[in-house]
Amino acid sequence: MKPSPRLSLNNGVLIDQVGCGLYKVPPEDAAGLVTMALEAGYRHFDTAAMYGNETGVGRGIGSLSSFVSPEDARGGSGESSPSLSREDLFVTTKLWNDDQGYDATLRAFDTSMSNLGLEYVDLYLIHWPCQQRGLYPESYRAMETLYREGRARAIGVSNFQPAHLDRLLQSAEVVPAVNQIELHPWLQQQELRTLHGELGITTEAWSPLGRGQVLQDPLVLDLAAAHGRTPAQIILRWHIELGNVTIPKASSYARIKENLNVFGFSLDDAAMDALAGLERGFRTGSHPDSVN
Ligand SMILES: NC(=O)c1ccc[n+]([C@@H]2O[C@H](COP(=O)([O-])OP(=O)(O)OC[C@H]3O[C@@H](n4cnc5c(N)ncnc54)[C@H](OP(=O)(O)O)[C@@H]3O)[C@@H](O)[C@H]2O)c1
Repeated sequence: MKPSPRLSLNNGVLIDQVGCGLYKVPPEDAAGLVTMALEAGYRHFDTAAMYGNETGVGRGIGSLSSFVSPEDARGGSGESSPSLSREDLFVTTKLWNDDQGYDATLRAFDTSMSNLGLEYVDLYLIHWPCQQRGLYPESYRAMETLYREGRARAIGVSNFQPAHLDRLLQSAEVVPAVNQIELHPWLQQQELRTLHGELGITTEAWSPLGRGQVLQDPLVLDLAAAHGRTPAQIILRWHIELGNVTIPKASSYARIKENLNVFGFSLDDAAMDALAGLERGFRTGSHPDSVN
């Protein structure tokens, strides 16, 4: 399987457009799932302190030397090292709500690094703004420290609404590289996607399949039949066409492979227009203003 193409974040760091989501993967299954995803060609992994599986994810990452390097898999000269190294991976983790604040963020980061067994992460995100706590500008200042120290190659946010981005940018010195938000055909986040484009922030879609529910949409089923693809592949291809980074979560090797196999076809304007019509403001998760 070919690895995912990469996008450039606003600081030049490259991110695989399709990554492996790890929410609700039990800690005891995480190492096996990461190993399976590496085998399928994934190089980008999305975890969080809150998922409770960073240790298992780290163990799975520890198996990377048994896999072929992306240069080889991308059809390079064949002269490069046959095994993967840490630099070939993109690992994201997130700061949990209870750890917001400057010092607490630094401590939480150390705990995540120790759990993952890593020297650095590729992306560190504030998991939720937690508006009532009012600590996200301070938490972000700590993340800027980690960024300058090279312990996080990129920093960003998750579940930030326009007002949160606006307030953050009043004090931030580093524009967030990413805002990871719930995004799928039933919740298309047009306002945030436009704002991200203006600010140079990459849109990353969580619950890209609407936790599986959007797979049953009649239009998605029709497009799948017309393209000889699965419903999941149609939705993931829609994310690719929009320029989103996306991190579907699946439990079996067959689905993990299926979800990465979305680069050999495209959706035309008529299909994209039809999919744009599916917006219905449907959330599978919490509204960011209700999480504190
Ligand atoms: N920042 C945040 O606040 C936040 C919140 C939620 C999620 N996330 C991230 O986003 C990732 C993905 O979101 P998600 O897990 O909520 O939802 P999702 O990826 O939209 O959907 C996952 C569901 O779809 C099913 N599925 C996956 N591939 C499939 C396929 N090819 N065919 C049929 N069913 C398929 C999975 O089933 P099986 O597992 O049974 O295979 C699972 O039930 C998470 O794992 C996490 O990394 C971030």
